[in-house]
Parts: sequence; C-alpha cells; structure tokens
Amino acid sequence: MAATGKGHENWSSRSAFILAAVGSAVGLGNMWRFPAEAGENGGGAFVLFYIFCVLLIGLPVLLSEVLIGRHGQANAQESVRKVARDSNASEGWGIIGSMGVFAAFLILSFYCVVGGWVVYYIGVFLGDLFQTGLSGGAFEGRDPEEIKGLMPGLFGNGGLMVGLNLGFLAITVFFVARGVSSGIEWVAVYLMPLFFLLFLAITIYGAFTGNFGEAVAYLFTFDFSKLTGEVMLAAVGQAFFSLSLGVAGMMTYGAYANRDTNLGETSGIIAGADTGVALLAGLAIFPIVFAAGLATNAGPGLMFESLPLAFQAMPLGSLIGLAFFTMVFFAALTSSVSLLEAPTAWMFEKFNLPRPVGTAIVGLGAAVLGVLSALSFNDMADFRPLAFIPIFAEANFFDALDGVTAKLFMPIGAILTCIFVGWIADAKLIDDENGLDGALHQIWRALVRYVCPIILAVILYFGLFG
Ligand code: TRP
Repeated sequence: MAATGKGHENWSSRSAFILAAVGSAVGLGNMWRFPAEAGENGGGAFVLFYIFCVLLIGLPVLLSEVLIGRHGQANAQESVRKVARDSNASEGWGIIGSMGVFAAFLILSFYCVVGGWVVYYIGVFLGDLFQTGLSGGAFEGRDPEEIKGLMPGLFGNGGLMVGLNLGFLAITVFFVARGVSSGIEWVAVYLMPLFFLLFLAITIYGAFTGNFGEAVAYLFTFDFSKLTGEVMLAAVGQAFFSLSLGVAGMMTYGAYANRDTNLGETSGIIAGADTGVALLAGLAIFPIVFAAGLATNAGPGLMFESLPLAFQAMPLGSLIGLAFFTMVFFAALTSSVSLLEAPTAWMFEKFNLPRPVGTAIVGLGAAVLGVLSALSFNDMADFRPLAFIPIFAEANFFDALDGVTAKLFMPIGAILTCIFVGWIADAKLIDDENGLDGALHQIWRALVRYVCPIILAVILYFGLFG
C-alpha cells in the first residue's frame, strides 16, 4: 500500500487490484440476481442476450470506467472532473460520477438486505450441523416442504429481516471504515479463489444428481420471440449490476490501480471471471429448480429456496451447505464493501472528513433505506412507491430500488460514460491509459463511440416504452 498525495491509497500489488475488482464484481449479482432474473425473463433468450451485453457493452464500458478512475486517482466525481480538465472539457461531466455515487448508495441499501438472508442461512446450516452432526445430508428426516418454507418464513418476519440487514450493513461499514488495503484486500486475496473452487465442486455434483439436461436446455435455448424490449433491458441491467458498472463502482476501484496495471487485460479478466460465476450459478441452481418442481419465476427467493434442497440430498450436506453460504457471505461482502466505498470516498474526499466519519454517515443513510426494503417483504408489502411508472407499477420498495438502479441509472450512466470517453475526453489521454494496441484499440474505440451508446439508447427506449 503506497500513499499518493492526498491520502488516497493504492492496492499493494497488481494482482491485489485484480482480485479486489473481481471481488467487487462477483457477488450476489451472480448467485442471487442472475438466476432470479433469468427465471423471471424466460431463460435462454435472456441468458444469451446477457452474454452478448457483457461482451459488446459491459467490457468496453468496464475499461472506460477503470480508466477514468485510474487517471483521476480520486472518487468517481472528482476522477471524471480531472479527465475533463485534462481534456479542456467542462467539469460538469462530473455529474456522471456524482449520479453514480448516489445510485451506488441506493444499491447498497437493498444489497445488505439480501446479504442478511445469507447470514440467516449460515445460521440455519450451523444449527443443523450441531443437531444432526456430519451424518448424511442436511436437515435429516425433515420434509423438503419444510426446507422450501424457510425463505417465506424469513420473509414474513419483519423484525428478523431488519436485524439481519442491519447486521450485514454494520459488517460492511466496519471493513470500509478501516480503509481499502487493510480492510478489503485480505478478503479478496484469500477467500475469492477458495470460493470459486467450492462452487465449481457443488455445480459438478449437481450436474450428476439434478435435472441438468433440462436446466441446460432452459438456459441456453435461444427463442427469438421471447426477446422483448423488457427482457433486453433486464439483461443489460443485469450485465451492469454484475460487473459493478454504470454507477461509479469501477471508477472508484480504478482509482486504486497502479500506473503499471494493464487496464485492458485486467478488464478482460474481471468480465471473464464474473460471467463464469454467473453461468456456474445458473447451472447449479436450475437443475434443482426443475428436479424439485420449483417455479422458475420465483423471483428474489429462487437461490435460497433451491440450493438447500440440494444440500439436503448431498453427503455431508450440512457441512457443505455451511461452507457454501459462508463463501457466498464473503463474496457478497467484497461487493457490498465496493458499493459502500463509492459513496464513502466521495463523502470524505469532498467534505474533508476522516474516513470513518464518512463511512458512518453513508452507513446510517443506507440503514434507513434498508429497513424500508426489508419491510417490503412483510409489513410494507402493499406499498407501491412507483405506481405511476408502468414498468415499476407492481414493484414494492425493494423491487423499485432494484429496478430503478439497474434499468435507469446504470444504462444512463453507461451511455454518458461512453459519450464522455469516446467523444469528449482527449484521445491521447485515453490512448495512454487503456493498455490496448492496434486492432483491439480500434475495436474498443468504435464500440465506445458508436456501438454501445446507440444499442443502449435503443434498449432503454424499447425497455421502457416498447
Ligand atoms: N457486482 C456486484 C454483484 O454482482 C454488486 C456491486 C458491487 C455493484 N459494487 C457495485 C453494482 C457497484 C453496481 C455498482 O454482486
């Protein structure tokens, strides 16, 4: 960790930056949100369009964001401003950063609610391990219906939901308050690789025992007629959510990258790892969904209702279930930490506060919104905050925050980022930062200038009004 100028730290090594960025990208977005969205949007068409979005839009935007951050060496808003200044453009472009910081704060608030569910399942498997020991699968002798009922049971318990949410948020605040390298790095460096291996093993086990063929057919059969504007917007929103894009996440982390990091190459690694885990999650979850006769469009509860059924059937199920949810917890933590870091860096740099104070202020705000999200599964289930917007008419508070950030803030932030990097920023400055040569550079430039903003604008239009 080297201090640069105004107390802005850097990651201790190149690989630590990559791992932290992968840690930010890989999280509940992959394991919880991707399968839920795929199931709610009809499977194959969504999944293949999602992969298309990652390659054609996510990857170029990812490089654009880390590039802005690395050049700026500051919070997202300040980094955009610095690139603008060095390109003789208006500092008003900083709005991309400040809008993103605000959206990241909104996402953080409901992300910690889902993080709380993970904590709950850690408790469930821990309890089960103590009760039944290591023999056989998890939940020995209990009816699968009872296992399926765990999630609705939790949803119905407002007090518990709020407590778990605040607990997860508090842990996130603790790590971010300690600072980037000491707080965040070790989780990314030591736990992410371990998680990958365990997840792979569970997926392979599932491939042999669950309804794998049906799952593969469901996830990868492309039915063009199912590709509506709404499905496309959902897919592009999921790609951004999963890659931490469009809302200042990767700009903030890019600022912690060293000068000698090749950003083009790093972006490829981040996108590859992130997409790999998402597909792994789909292949782990859907065989169980089909084998157990669960509804594919179960929504936010999908992962939490399906996986415990697999652990029930697995040898050493309680232990593996416990290990799995513990790993999901750490994957979620490295992401929530990055969600909190974006507004926190903005807060303490802008107002010149000590880092812990900035963290606490943002954390308190997220707590208030988080409580409303946690209660939208129970006490406030009938509250429809955006009833006046057709595509969000049915959304409760939690769904509204999730929908508005993924379907409005992220695509709009990404369009502005593309215009800024492709047309406004100094071409030489961009060229120096991006680590791409020759044809690859030309392709990236064409994607950022033309392809991405145009496709995004079209998807946004048809997704909202089509
Ligand atoms: N990408 C993370 C996930 O998939 C979520 C996330 C972390 C995020 N930081 C972000 C999303 C910043 C948007 C912006 O779980």
